[in-house]
Amino acid sequence: MSIPSRLLMGPGPSNAPPSVLTAMSRPLVGHLDPAFVALMEDIKAMLRQVFLTSNEMTFPVSGTGSAGMEFCLVNLIEPGDEVIVGVNGVFGQRMAEVASRCGAKVTTVEATWGSIIEPDAIAAALKQVARPKLVAIVHAETSTGALTPVEEIGRLTRDSGALLVLDTVTSLGGCAVRLDDWLVDAAYSGTQKCLSCPPGLSPVSFGPRAMEAVRARRHRVQSWYLDVSLLANYWAEGQRVYHHTAPISMNYALHEALRLLLEEGLEQRWARHERNHNALRAGLTALGLEIVSQRGHQLWQLNAVGVPQGVDEAAVRGRLLQEFNIEVGAGLGPMKGKIWRVGLMGHTSTLENVCVLLMALGRILREAGQSVDERAAAAAAKASAAGS
Ligand SMILES: Cc1ncc(COP(=O)(O)O)c(C=O)c1O
Repeated sequence: MSIPSRLLMGPGPSNAPPSVLTAMSRPLVGHLDPAFVALMEDIKAMLRQVFLTSNEMTFPVSGTGSAGMEFCLVNLIEPGDEVIVGVNGVFGQRMAEVASRCGAKVTTVEATWGSIIEPDAIAAALKQVARPKLVAIVHAETSTGALTPVEEIGRLTRDSGALLVLDTVTSLGGCAVRLDDWLVDAAYSGTQKCLSCPPGLSPVSFGPRAMEAVRARRHRVQSWYLDVSLLANYWAEGQRVYHHTAPISMNYALHEALRLLLEEGLEQRWARHERNHNALRAGLTALGLEIVSQRGHQLWQLNAVGVPQGVDEAAVRGRLLQEFNIEVGAGLGPMKGKIWRVGLMGHTSTLENVCVLLMALGRILREAGQSVDERAAAAAAKASAAGS
């Protein structure tokens, strides 16, 4: 069966660099082979650099981003625990659902989709909840394109004595994520977004307070597969004990993706994402389109582009895919039919890709009767990038 080669400009996966895909074709070795063990140590060290943390317990869980979410919540929540979850999109909703399945009494802090979770709202919830065990928020809400600032929420949560759990699935590698500076106790991410690696692993990090909460548990962790204490025996340096057969080839890919990221430099990588987001915005403005998530808090790596009145959202998305081989995402929940989600993640975040998308989108809109000039849009994107 033939699989097309797409330009992946949706909410993930993003395109993986050739060397990441090639890494996956390296010969298989056993999961306790000294060569694989050395690779695991490298991955842990590089993940600490990328998460900006000194947390010993930093490694990739075998599974996608949702496995990382479950890993954090299932290890930190015991039945009856009071938990606060910020909900401003699909992934906050999912965290609340997972927390409730762990037996938590969940208090949600809701915000309009497209807006951020305000620190004041978290402060109010921390006062209202008698004994909050943890606060969980999504840093970069992929369903809406909003980036919630973490620093103040980190301080408030620490002052309350609760743990802070952060979803960094879409933020890691695309904008600043500073676990230690922001007082984040537990975090998870995914490989297929700004790390530009195929889906399949979920980098996680537990700090000392999270590990202390695990040691103080009264009940066994409900999940055997995701139990951090069992996984520690496999991932910790020294004597490794078989737990599960790690996806060897995925770890090869992650190793290469992290190597490329660190070669580029964290700050340089964030700046590239910012520059290309600004270029996209300039081009969209020239097309009469706008990014609809909260101003001042718009993600660089995921752009929620408003669909103009009278334009058929799904038809445009379909033409982009079928005629131009470009994938963009649809809106979810209340944003269904109202936005396109345009990802500029990791390897996909280039000025060339921004221009290719603007040319294709502009042409489709023009053919649908809109009065737009796609060449002017691409020129505006280039001028923005040249000026930054
Ligand atoms: C913010 C966020 N959290 C969690 C997930 C779940 O990750 P996965 O689909 O890899 O399981 C996603 C996926 O899009 C996401 O964007």
